[in-house]
Amino acid sequence: MESTNTPTPLFEIRDLQVRYGDMKVLHGINTDMPAKEVTAILGPSGCGKSTLLRVLNRTLKLTPMARVSGGTVKYHGENLLQHPLGEQQIRKRIGIVQQRPLPFPMSIRDNVMFGADYHNKTSSGKKNEQAQLYLEKVGLWNEVKDRLKSPGSRLSIGQQQRLCIARSLANRPEVLLMDEPCSALDPDSTAKIEDLILKLQEEIAIVIVTHNLAQARRVSSNCLFFLNGTIAEQGKTAEVLNNPVHPSVQAIVMGKEG
Ligand SMILES: Nc1ncnc2c1ncn2[C@@H]1O[C@H](COP(=O)(O)OP(=O)(O)O)[C@@H](O)[C@H]1O
Ligand SMILES: [Mg+2]
Repeated sequence: MESTNTPTPLFEIRDLQVRYGDMKVLHGINTDMPAKEVTAILGPSGCGKSTLLRVLNRTLKLTPMARVSGGTVKYHGENLLQHPLGEQQIRKRIGIVQQRPLPFPMSIRDNVMFGADYHNKTSSGKKNEQAQLYLEKVGLWNEVKDRLKSPGSRLSIGQQQRLCIARSLANRPEVLLMDEPCSALDPDSTAKIEDLILKLQEEIAIVIVTHNLAQARRVSSNCLFFLNGTIAEQGKTAEVLNNPVHPSVQAIVMGKEG
């Protein structure tokens, strides 16, 4: 019998299917994702990892021809795809960080406060205070405090990625989806982002797509291993990576780590 203490999962995904036009790219995804934990999504290019993230933060429909063609996704037990909060609020609560940081053409400070200010107009003093808070959170404050008015695009790519994370955090999300957030970064910047993930997981849930198995081991407790639009294997990260059952997952893990 199910314990009454079992918390409702953050996301419950059942038989999720997605198409781009005639091409089916997710073939029936089934998984639960817990709150306040880090879930890694692994798997070869083109197997549907980014597509799943787009479903989760309701940006799939911004892609022409894309649609959910079957299945359900619940967010705290409610239908995510027709959630009463609406798309804008959902995108605020379920933020996304992309592979290539895209600072907006504005100052460092205004970059951080862009989304938060759009949703909730803030005074200039308050803005400075808030910007500092989120820049501190991502470990960027000391590096930028003397140039808050200079363009975000002048930062190094690793700093830009942390700036974009600060911008997402300023919306006070409950979930942060990260799509290969370190693949354009040097090892030093990558280590900073990993430290940040470990710190953030105390407050929010994180779903991170990564090609780096060592990174998945370092930052995540759960993992989903995708192959060709399905989940080939899922469970605790260490178990999946130490003892994969699916032969293709075994081959990939052995190839990368063996
Ligand atoms: N905008 C799009 N239009 C058509 N097909 C797409 C689009 N985006 C992705 N695809 C296709 O969907 C499949 C899954 O893509 P994606 O979710 O980006 O995979 P991954 O993130 O695992 O590399 C791939 O075959 C890809 O070519
Ligand atoms: Mg992708």
